Amino acid sequence: MRFDVISLFPEQFRILTQEGVVARALGRGIATLRLWNPRDFTHDPHRTVDDRPYGGGPGMVMKAPPLHDAIRAARVAAEAAGCRSRVAYLSPQGRPLSQADIGRIADADGWILLAGRYEGVDERLLEADVDEEWSIGDYVLSGGELPAMVVMDAVIRLLPGALGHAGSALADSHMDGLLDCPHYTRPETLDDGRRVPGVLLSGDHAAIARWRKRQALERTWQRRPDLLAGRDLSKDEQAVLDALEAGAAPRDSAETSGATVRQLTQPPDGVERPESSDQHRSQD
Ligand SMILES: C[S@@+](CC[C@H](N)C(=O)[O-])C[C@H]1O[C@@H](n2cnc3c(N)ncnc32)[C@H](O)[C@@H]1O
Repeated sequence: MRFDVISLFPEQFRILTQEGVVARALGRGIATLRLWNPRDFTHDPHRTVDDRPYGGGPGMVMKAPPLHDAIRAARVAAEAAGCRSRVAYLSPQGRPLSQADIGRIADADGWILLAGRYEGVDERLLEADVDEEWSIGDYVLSGGELPAMVVMDAVIRLLPGALGHAGSALADSHMDGLLDCPHYTRPETLDDGRRVPGVLLSGDHAAIARWRKRQALERTWQRRPDLLAGRDLSKDEQAVLDALEAGAAPRDSAETSGATVRQLTQPPDGVERPESSDQHRSQD
């Protein structure tokens, strides 16, 4: 997969290229990254990339011509490498990205990412050259570099071979619409007496898988009940949720022995939970 990024601050991408999962994936050719500085596409002595907004007001606006030429150069280079890349502008006005969007982005050959600065980009450039606008959340950052890196990290870790263990991303939060289960590692008992749930020490892989699934459902029910609203629940999932609604999760002794089991709590105030679990009942 190929990324071409248009940015006034290409050095910032060292965060991605120097260490970690993404750096290793880039090093192994699982993904490629090329950076394009719009200043290299200016034709005046000051290499001007921004100007005052028409109509007045504070701040500066990124000029269309250098961005258009940078995008065109990136497109030509991508096509020469066999990629038909689409162009995405990182913007607080864009579509808020979900894990499902990240999966769709990862399915493409390549993307040209446009990182804005200042008050943003001349609207005519967006109309002419940009296919999609993506937001990483309802807040405003000073530039599109961090959002571009957020998207690239989320995408590249999904690519085959990027993570040490194939499939380890599959259980992550949001991958199948649920939050991840809790995780534990050595020591078995902490200084304050907190112990690892007994089931995880049992060696019973089926029981461990059941426990993890229940924990994922319980966490989602507690923290993000909105995620359950559109889910087509299996019978087992429905049974767990029914028990949670009734005030107790189904557990067997092996799962709780030795563990400090948290009391079930209602979803926090202000978090909307579906009225009745019946509406999630699976059709099968
Ligand atoms: C200060 S912001 C401009 C905000 C713009 N005036 C507005 O209110 O929509 C500068 C740049 O940061 C990037 N940016 C800021 N917040 C973002 C977000 N939540 N998601 C994606 N990109 C963002 C965009 O590329 C934007 O052009």
